[in-house]
Amino acid sequence: MSILIFLGPPGSGKGTQAKKLAELLHIPQIAVGDILREEVRAGSEVGNQAQAFMKAGKLVPDELTIEIVRQRVGREDCREGFILDGFPRSELQADALDQILSKGGRKIDQLIYFKIAEEEVVGRLSGRRSCKNCGAVYHLKYNPPRTAGKCDLCGGELYLRHDDEENIIRNRFEVYEKQTRPLIDRYKKAGSLVEIDAAQAIDVIFKDLTGTLAIAKVP
Ligand code: AP5
Repeated sequence: MSILIFLGPPGSGKGTQAKKLAELLHIPQIAVGDILREEVRAGSEVGNQAQAFMKAGKLVPDELTIEIVRQRVGREDCREGFILDGFPRSELQADALDQILSKGGRKIDQLIYFKIAEEEVVGRLSGRRSCKNCGAVYHLKYNPPRTAGKCDLCGGELYLRHDDEENIIRNRFEVYEKQTRPLIDRYKKAGSLVEIDAAQAIDVIFKDLTGTLAIAKVP
């Protein structure tokens, strides 16, 4: 069983690394941002409630995201473990996660903090392109698709996320500093957090990550 939590500022590469690691370990990546975007696209009630917060770069209310996580981690494919990418992001979410896990007799195995400066992140996010169809993530410079504008995996159209515009990126960073950063200190004090230098190249970070988690087989 591996229950891994990825924390870090917007654009620190949590999603990129979580996808690679999930594939290696054969456990699901649970990205609350991806689930919320899917709900918005589907026009569901949750999506309608979340949309305005996401557009403004603010956190969606805790009760919505906690319920999403509660339901998702209870599914069959999470029995052997999962990677939570972008949750918890507030003290309330952290408390709820502890409760959800302890009810199922489980606990967090490792928290990974992706450490990076804001200036580095702005360039990353404005160059990000995401697939409309399957959600795969690219970067115009650091991780370009083989054919411009098209997803390598499914041929879907690539787009710039609305919240990746510069003024909204700055808001997301502010929100992170106020609401999520205190969690880093909380987990550091508890001695359960490992820090990764997220300013390095994608493959170097992945080596650090698998080394930290003592995973022997890195392709
Ligand atoms: P979410 O989608 O989770 O956004 P985020 O946390 O801001 O994180 P990002 O997806 O922007 O970045 P990432 O760290 O995954 O980086 P990535 O790998 O893509 O959340 C969106 C919104 O949903 C929130 O604002 C909020 O409204 C809501 N929400 C989500 N979770 C919530 C919660 N728990 N509570 C309340 N609300 C919530 O990489 C970024 C780019 O950089 C890509 O282009 C990538 O190719 C490139 N890249 C990655 N690594 C590297 C590298 N090492 N070098 C160069 N480029 C790299």
